[in-house]
Amino acid sequence: MKKALITGVTGQDGAYLSKYLLSLGYQVHGIKRRSSLINTSRIDDIYEEPEESKNFILHYGDLTDSNNILRLINEIEPDEIYNLAAQSHVQVSFETAEYTANSDAFGVLRFLEAIRNLDMVNDVKFYQASTSELYGKVQEIPQSEKTPFYPRSPYGVAKLYGYWITINYRESYGMHASNGILFNHESPLRGETFVTQKIILGLVDIFLGKKNSIRLGNLGAQRDWGHARDFVKGMHKIVQQKHPSDYVLATGRLESVKSFIEIALDYFGEKVAWEGSGIDEVGILESSNKKIIQVDERYFRPAEVELLVGDYTKAKKELGWEPETKLEQLIKEMLESAIISKGGSTDLLKNV
Ligand code: NAP
Ligand code: GDD
Repeated sequence: MKKALITGVTGQDGAYLSKYLLSLGYQVHGIKRRSSLINTSRIDDIYEEPEESKNFILHYGDLTDSNNILRLINEIEPDEIYNLAAQSHVQVSFETAEYTANSDAFGVLRFLEAIRNLDMVNDVKFYQASTSELYGKVQEIPQSEKTPFYPRSPYGVAKLYGYWITINYRESYGMHASNGILFNHESPLRGETFVTQKIILGLVDIFLGKKNSIRLGNLGAQRDWGHARDFVKGMHKIVQQKHPSDYVLATGRLESVKSFIEIALDYFGEKVAWEGSGIDEVGILESSNKKIIQVDERYFRPAEVELLVGDYTKAKKELGWEPETKLEQLIKEMLESAIISKGGSTDLLKNV
């Protein structure tokens, strides 16, 4: 039985990857940090399944604690390590730049050093959760493994260190260490402050009569949104390769924040009219004339990443990986899950 160690197990990707690896027969060890309230809601269902829970073991740990990381790797002796933990919010990284560097940059180094110091370089395969945020102010469209990087946030810059230190340990010590350069991926388990989930939860509240409007930042930002469930399969494929390498995982489809809202509204049988510009732009529901979208400067970033769209040709060719879920299907799943979590009926959705 293969053993995998997953950092960030309580996060969106950690939850999907744990479930996927358990389904493949792995023993999964997850690292979670201590929190004042229980924060395992994304993985609670694994515990509740007796068959799965015996192969799913949680350990306390933190990316900022070298001794803890060293001890856990030594005790668990994993075959594969997936380093998914990070301070993953771009806007928050401008407020907590030093902590973001400590966890997202040095956290990667701590794992690589622990593997080296434990003399496990030939025994462990390492996956680093790299990101399309590395491309930042994009130098070409679409972005591939060959596109030069230009990060635009403390998060992006910290992740750039994580990317290169992974490659450096691969080249210096022959470690099986790879980067997945993943474009935005969402799901019903997405954190509430990322734009897609914020829109989904906000619209459901509006149609359940609990809220009047959603306040957002840059409505013109464009992203390549895929489903986390598909992307964790790509992570696993990357680690199974004979030779370690770096891969873009993306869908290749570019949509704006505004068009994400329009697709979601279509499920309610509604349309939005956009009026005004910049900070004064509003989204008005055509059926009722209600202002449901407003712009709020608080959500603007000191430096913005306007456009990200990935070219996943290498992953398709070498890994046989392709995204399986269309954006419309992703949005539908997120809406259904949000409605159910808020005690509503999915009959709210018309165009299913
Ligand atoms: P997420 O939902 O924010 O989860 C992050 C996880 O990291 C959580 O389990 C969090 O624990 C944990 N964590 C944060 N700081 C930690 C620390 N100091 N020590 C230990 N654990 C810590 O993020 P995600 O969307 O699953 O993303 C997974 C990884 O992929 C991240 O590295 C992210 O930067 C990267 N990535 C994500 C995307 C995307 O679109 N989702 C795209 C490219 C790359 P708590 O639950 O305690 O907060
Ligand atoms: N969060 C948020 N909240 N973003 C908003 C809002 C808002 O109210 N209004 C507009 N946006 C814009 C942001 O300015 C950004 O351009 C875009 O929507 C997406 O923002 P997020 O959903 O926060 O994601 P992100 O692209 O910044 O970062 C995510 O994807 C990266 C991969 O490209 C995170 O998951 C990162 O961890 C990941 O590396």
